[in-house]
Amino acid sequence: MCGIFAYTGKKQAGVTLLDGLTSLEYRGYDSAGIFLPERGGIRAVGAVGNLKKKIPTDFEGHSGIAHLRWATHGEPTEDNAHPHRDCTSDVWVVHNGIIENWKELKRDLESRGHVFLSETDTEVMAHLVEQELSDGKDFESAARAALGRIRGTYGMAIQSRAEPDVIVGARMGAPVVLGLGDGENFIASDPSPILKHTRTVLFLEDGEMAVIRPNSYKIFKLGGDTVERAAQEVDWSPEEAQKGGYEHFMLKEIMEGPEVIKNTLRGRLMFEEGMAKLGGLESVKDELAKIERIIIVGCGTAYYAGLVGEYMLEEHAGIPVEVELGSEFRYRKPVLNQKTMLLAISQSGETADTLEAIREGKRKGAITVGIVNTVGSTIARETDAGVYNHAGPEIGVASTKALVSQITALALLTLFLGRQRKMSDSDAEEIISQLSLLPEKVQKILDNKAAIEAMAAKYSDSRDFLYIGRKYNYPIAFEGALKLKEISYIHAEGCGAGEMKHGPLAMIDEKFPTMAIAPSDTVYEKLASNIQEIRARRGPVVAVATEGNDDILSYTKDVIYVPETIEMLQPILSVVPLQLFAYYLAHAKGFNVDRPRNLAKSVTVE
Ligand code: AGP
Ligand code: GLU
Repeated sequence: MCGIFAYTGKKQAGVTLLDGLTSLEYRGYDSAGIFLPERGGIRAVGAVGNLKKKIPTDFEGHSGIAHLRWATHGEPTEDNAHPHRDCTSDVWVVHNGIIENWKELKRDLESRGHVFLSETDTEVMAHLVEQELSDGKDFESAARAALGRIRGTYGMAIQSRAEPDVIVGARMGAPVVLGLGDGENFIASDPSPILKHTRTVLFLEDGEMAVIRPNSYKIFKLGGDTVERAAQEVDWSPEEAQKGGYEHFMLKEIMEGPEVIKNTLRGRLMFEEGMAKLGGLESVKDELAKIERIIIVGCGTAYYAGLVGEYMLEEHAGIPVEVELGSEFRYRKPVLNQKTMLLAISQSGETADTLEAIREGKRKGAITVGIVNTVGSTIARETDAGVYNHAGPEIGVASTKALVSQITALALLTLFLGRQRKMSDSDAEEIISQLSLLPEKVQKILDNKAAIEAMAAKYSDSRDFLYIGRKYNYPIAFEGALKLKEISYIHAEGCGAGEMKHGPLAMIDEKFPTMAIAPSDTVYEKLASNIQEIRARRGPVVAVATEGNDDILSYTKDVIYVPETIEMLQPILSVVPLQLFAYYLAHAKGFNVDRPRNLAKSVTVE
């Protein structure tokens, strides 16, 4: 996710654009850049402040485009910062999203003599427009033709020096909103940079492009048909706009789950071959074919994702796996060698304990791989190879969409390694098929959020909470408990359901509720027995169960139903209700769910 912002009108464009970038900074901060037809492109690594230092105050010009980058392709360097340009410095582009077919387009354009200056996917768009212009099209037609050649996701703004008043916007899978002012118009990723100028906005839909001028705008389908759509007045504050209208980033990020799964999977499922295409592992794929053991390291939520990965990789790739807390692993004397893959999972890519574990693994000769969300982060740079999540920035301290993406990425890794070994075509096909159905299944859970909110309210006075699960949902019991404790401050603990009778059952009474993760999987009957043990001690039980399971109602009436999927992907469907349950319960208690006390988003200290 990143931020795009474009302006054409009567104000000083530079000041207007820089000011707008500040309100978009939550969307990405790897680099910032601006194009003004009178000045060209100016870019800086890091936050907007670094860009401001590079721009003199005496701005000229009344139009331009600007960008805040959350890198997906190419390190966060100045060369990779947007806006990107064509060979002639006439066409400039800012882009939010991923162009899947950028490599083949780049090869074709280079064969036609185009010279590229960056490692990004985005740059191909500037050269495509240039190519279409050279074929005699006008700017608007050239932009439309170029958009027709790219596959993937984009929220984009394109400008040509030749027609400085005109800016083209386009949307496919990443948000784009027009701001309609008096003698001025805007294009942005969300309304937050627009609202101080106008509250009249118009949201583009996928497959649409817009052409704005200071006193006019028009919207088209990519096929060329004109789109008539009424503008709307938004009464959001800029901060509300940053949250997409949600009250908290955490809720917004939970609701982004379906999109995050799509972005994690994007371009990586090879349906025909029954394979996962993981470009970041290409350099070590031969070594990975020979590994005999995997050690997964992570902290907090990332550690629990790793525990899910352990079940996946052992069952479907046939590789022995151990999962270690980064904070413990680094103090052990682990026995590693070249046949060991050390897999680090980290949203921030900066967690000190996980980073030290990776360094220990490298010292011992292991192949180090990362599943990281932040491109160019320390763990991403120090591992031998990796898989980026493409989940976009996660602002809420409580990790939600990152976990959904991490488990999705682990399923892709399981496919990748399993197909190097004995995973059958049919197993691979089933995993791929079920992965592609996940976004709509998660959406179905999110559509039921009101029922989960009501359930959270019912238990908002709880002082303790036990979370139980088995097999693939054993880690989710711990993750669900972590979500609840870290934002509602309730004492919550995860427990293997089979462990209840070895001690935890003693805690149960009518004041000690249990969240039982009980999908209709291979261990449901055993989980149901555990629920009965709890109910026999009058312990309240909330159950996460599979749609259509009426049996669970004989134990408890407090049931959150989720769709069915294959066992290895069930954790993704089980965790989403627990994220919402924790969010609504903490919100009901009046706590700051985005910034819980005592915690930081990235634990870069030991
Ligand atoms: C989870 O909700 C917490 N924010 C925390 O446990 C987090 O998962 C942990 O600090 C690891 O962070 P990382 O994924 O950035 O390495
Ligand atoms: N894929 C583009 C890049 O890596 C855009 C990423 C973003 O959305 O900021 O530069």
